[in-house]
Amino acid sequence: MKAAEIRQTFLKFFESKGHQIVASSPVVPGDDPTLLFTNAGMNQFKDVFLGFDKRAYTRATTSQKCIRAGGKHNDLDNVGYTARHHTFFEMLGNFSFGDYFKHDAISYAWELLTKHFHLPAEKLWVTVYAEDDEAYEIWNKVVGVPAERIVRIGDNKGGRYMSDNFWMMGDTGPCGPCTEIFYDHGPEVAGGPPGSPNEDGDRYIEIWNNVFMQFNRTEDGVMHKLPKPSVDTGMGLERLAAVLQHVHSNYEIDTFVGLLAAAKTAVDGAAPAGNDADKDSPSLKVIADHIRACSFTIVDGVIPGNEGRGYVLRRIARRAIRHGYKLGARKPFFHQIVAELVNQMGDAYPELRQAQTRVTEVLKQEEERFFQTIANGMEILEAALAQGHSQVDGETAFKLHDTYGFPVDLTADVCRERGVTVDQAGFEAAMNRQREQARAAGKFKMAAGLEYQGTATAFHGYEHLVCETSKVTAVYVDGALVAEAQAGDDAVVVLDHTPFYAESGGQVGDQGELRNNTSRFAVEDTLKIQADVFGHHGRVLEGSIKAGDVFTAKVNAEARAKTVRNHSATHLMHKALREVLGAHVQQKGSLVNAERTRFDFAHNAPMTAEEIKKVEAIVNAEILANAGAKAEVMALDDAQKSGAMMLFGEKYGETVRVLSIGSSKELCGGTHVKATGDIGLFKIVAEGGVAAGVRRVEAVTGDNALAYLQQLESTVNAVAGTLKTAPAELEPRIHAVLDQVKALEKELAAAKSKLASAQGDELLSQAVDVKGLKVLAATLVGADAKTLRETMDKLKDKLKTAAIVLAAVDGDKVQLAAGVTADSVAKVKAGELVNFVAQQVGGKGGGKPDMAMAGGTDAKALPAALASVQAWVGERL
Ligand code: ALA
Repeated sequence: MKAAEIRQTFLKFFESKGHQIVASSPVVPGDDPTLLFTNAGMNQFKDVFLGFDKRAYTRATTSQKCIRAGGKHNDLDNVGYTARHHTFFEMLGNFSFGDYFKHDAISYAWELLTKHFHLPAEKLWVTVYAEDDEAYEIWNKVVGVPAERIVRIGDNKGGRYMSDNFWMMGDTGPCGPCTEIFYDHGPEVAGGPPGSPNEDGDRYIEIWNNVFMQFNRTEDGVMHKLPKPSVDTGMGLERLAAVLQHVHSNYEIDTFVGLLAAAKTAVDGAAPAGNDADKDSPSLKVIADHIRACSFTIVDGVIPGNEGRGYVLRRIARRAIRHGYKLGARKPFFHQIVAELVNQMGDAYPELRQAQTRVTEVLKQEEERFFQTIANGMEILEAALAQGHSQVDGETAFKLHDTYGFPVDLTADVCRERGVTVDQAGFEAAMNRQREQARAAGKFKMAAGLEYQGTATAFHGYEHLVCETSKVTAVYVDGALVAEAQAGDDAVVVLDHTPFYAESGGQVGDQGELRNNTSRFAVEDTLKIQADVFGHHGRVLEGSIKAGDVFTAKVNAEARAKTVRNHSATHLMHKALREVLGAHVQQKGSLVNAERTRFDFAHNAPMTAEEIKKVEAIVNAEILANAGAKAEVMALDDAQKSGAMMLFGEKYGETVRVLSIGSSKELCGGTHVKATGDIGLFKIVAEGGVAAGVRRVEAVTGDNALAYLQQLESTVNAVAGTLKTAPAELEPRIHAVLDQVKALEKELAAAKSKLASAQGDELLSQAVDVKGLKVLAATLVGADAKTLRETMDKLKDKLKTAAIVLAAVDGDKVQLAAGVTADSVAKVKAGELVNFVAQQVGGKGGGKPDMAMAGGTDAKALPAALASVQAWVGERL
C-alpha cells in the first residue's frame, strides 16, 4: 500500500467513526511563541484540550506535517543513522475532545491496524503507563492481547511523570499517560522488546502512540486536571508505510525511493565528471530527509538565519549540504531536489507546489553562501581531526562556526563519523566570550550602558504629551553619574515619570524639551537604560540640572504625530502584505520615525508594481474607513487566543499590550493614532531586497505622503515644461524625443563618415615617400574611433604600401589609430607605432601589426607627436 493510500485509509476510517477530517496546520505555529515547530498532530488543538477553545466537532482526524529538529522533541542527530528517524514526518492522528476515552481509542486503533491494514495480531506489542491499570485491562481483557506482549513502563526518565509512557508536548501544556503500539519486524532484525535493555534496536518499532490527555502542566511544574479527559494519538506515516510495504527501513518506502534517486542525481551532477555517489550511503538518506524539513519550513515563511527557527533551518540545510559535499558535490545541488519532493507530496500538500519556486530559490541562495566557505572549513576540520585526539577543541569548533558557517552540531556530525567528540563546553565558552565583547561594544556605542539604581520611570506618553511635574532621578555626563549638569553639557536625564516614548519595537525615541523657571534641556532622543528606566538624551540649553529638580516635560508633538501615523500604518501594511503576498510574510525588522516607516519581511521575490498598488489600496481603504484604535493589556495566553499577531523569538512578558487598529491586531508597545483616518494618506516609496529572502518596503504617511506626491508632481511639471508639453502628454512626447535622438544619431554618423572620407582624399596628397613607403600622419577633424578605422582602411587601400597614423581630438583627449599595409608589417609594426605616438600625448597603446588603437590625454602635444612619425618609420626601413 502506497503512502498516499495509507494516509487516505486512515482519515476515511476515522471519518466513518464520526471524526471530522481537519487539514494539517502549518509547521510554523504562527501564534504560539512557546513552540519552535509543530511537533505533533495535537498542536493545533492545544487550546481545545485546555478548554479555552471550542470547535463544532468533538472528534477530529488529521495528517499533520511535523518537524522534530529543535526544542523538546529533537531527532536531528539521529537522522541518517537509524532506519526510522526524520526531521520532517507526517503524523496521522485521531482526537477526542472530551468525547470518547481509553476504551474506544484502543478499540479503534486495534480495529484499524488488524482489520483494515491487516497487520497480524501476533506481531503487535503494546506498552502502557505502569500505573494505568485501566488501559492494561482494556488491552488484555477487551482486545485480548496476551499479557506477555503488554509491557508496563513507569517513570523511567528520572522524575515524576518522566516516562516513555507519559507524553508532554513541551515543558508546559496538555499531557497525560499513553499507550504505545509496537510492530515486531522479526527475529532477523536486532533489538529487544520495549522496556528491555536492547529496546533501541530496530526490531520492535513503535508505530502508534495513544495519549490520554488528563493534565495541563504549567510552568511551575504543577499538573492541573483538564476540564474533560481527551484523546490524542499519533502514528508516523513513514513507519507504518515501512511495515505495510514489508521493508524494514523508512527510507525504502515509496516516498523516499524517488527522493533518494533525485538526491543521487543532484549530487553527481554537482560533482566532478564521473562521480558516482554510493546509492546506499547514509548521506543520501540525510539529504532525502532534510529536503522535506527544509522545504516545508520555507513554505511556511522561515528563511535561513542566525536565530530561532531560521537557525534551525540553516542547521538542517547545511547538514544536508555537507553530506552532499562528502559524496562529491562541489556546487549547489540541494535545491534541485525540491522538484521531486513536489512530485511526491504536492498533491497532499498543495501549499508546497504553490511555493515551489520560492523554496528552490531560498535554498539555492543558502547553498551558494555555504559553498563559498565549506571547502576551507572542511580543511580546518580535517587538520584538527588529523591530530588524532579524541576530542576537537572548542576554539576550533567556534572558529568553524564563526568564520566558516559550520553550526556546531554540523561539526559534531562530522566528528561523530570519525568517533571523535566536540568540546561543547569550550565552544560555549568561546561563544559567550564573543557575546560579551559584542555587548560591551554595544554599550560603548550607545553611551547608554549607564548604571542606575533608583525608581523606575512611569510612562505617561500613551495619553499625554506633557507632564508638568517630572522629577529628575539621575543625571549623567560622559557616561558617568554627576551631581549636576551645566549649560552646554551633553547629558542623559532620568525622570520618575515622563511622556517621552523610549525607542523600542522599531519606533524611535521621542524628542522635545524639559523646562522649568531656571533651566531648559533639549531632548534629542529617548532610550531605555533598563527595561523601565528612560534616559532622555540631549543638551542643557540654560541653567543646570540635578537629581530632585522638577521639570515640565514636553514632547515635540509634531514629530510624535508623524511617527505615530507611520507606526499605525506599519500595522495595516503588515496585514495587507500578508493578504497580498501570503501568510509567509513575517516581520524581520522595522524602523518607524517621523519621516517614514521601513519594514523588512520574509519574501523571496521583488514585489511587482501591481502588488504594491494592491497593498496601497488596502491600507488606504482602511484609512478611509476611519476605524478606531484600541489598546488592551491582557495575559499572553489571552492575546494568543484573540489571534493577535506575535513574533517568534520575541520575549514577551506574562501580560502584553494588544493593539487593534482597523482589521489588524498585533502585540505592540508603541504609540498609535486614535483612528485610522488620522493617518491621512499612505504611499509606498521604495521596495528592495536586503538579504536572501528578505524584502524591505519604505512608506510615508500624512503630510509626508503629500509632500512626496507634490515633489513628484513638480518634477513631472518641470520636465513637461522643458519638453513644452502637458504632463498627460509626457509619455508620448518623451518617446517621440527619443526616436528623434536616434534618427539624429544615425544621420550624424553618416555625415561624419562622409566628412572623414572626404578628408581622407585630401590627405592622400600629404603622404610622404620614405624609402618606397608612403608615410602619413594627420588629424581627422570631428572623427570618432569608428571613422578613424574606416578612413584608415580606405587610405591603406589607396596608398598600397604605407604606414599611417590618424588622430582625432576631443578637448584634451586624443584618439589614435595606426595602420601598416600587409606588405610592410615585417619592418614596421602598427602596435609599436601607435604606442610611440601615444606616449608623447600622455597615453599608451598597442595592437596588431597591421592595425592598432590608442588614446592620450594631452592634445597640445599632438602636432609634434605626428611630426615625429616620419623619422621613426624611416629608422626602421
Ligand atoms: N501527541 C502524541 C505524540 O506525538 C500522540 O506522540
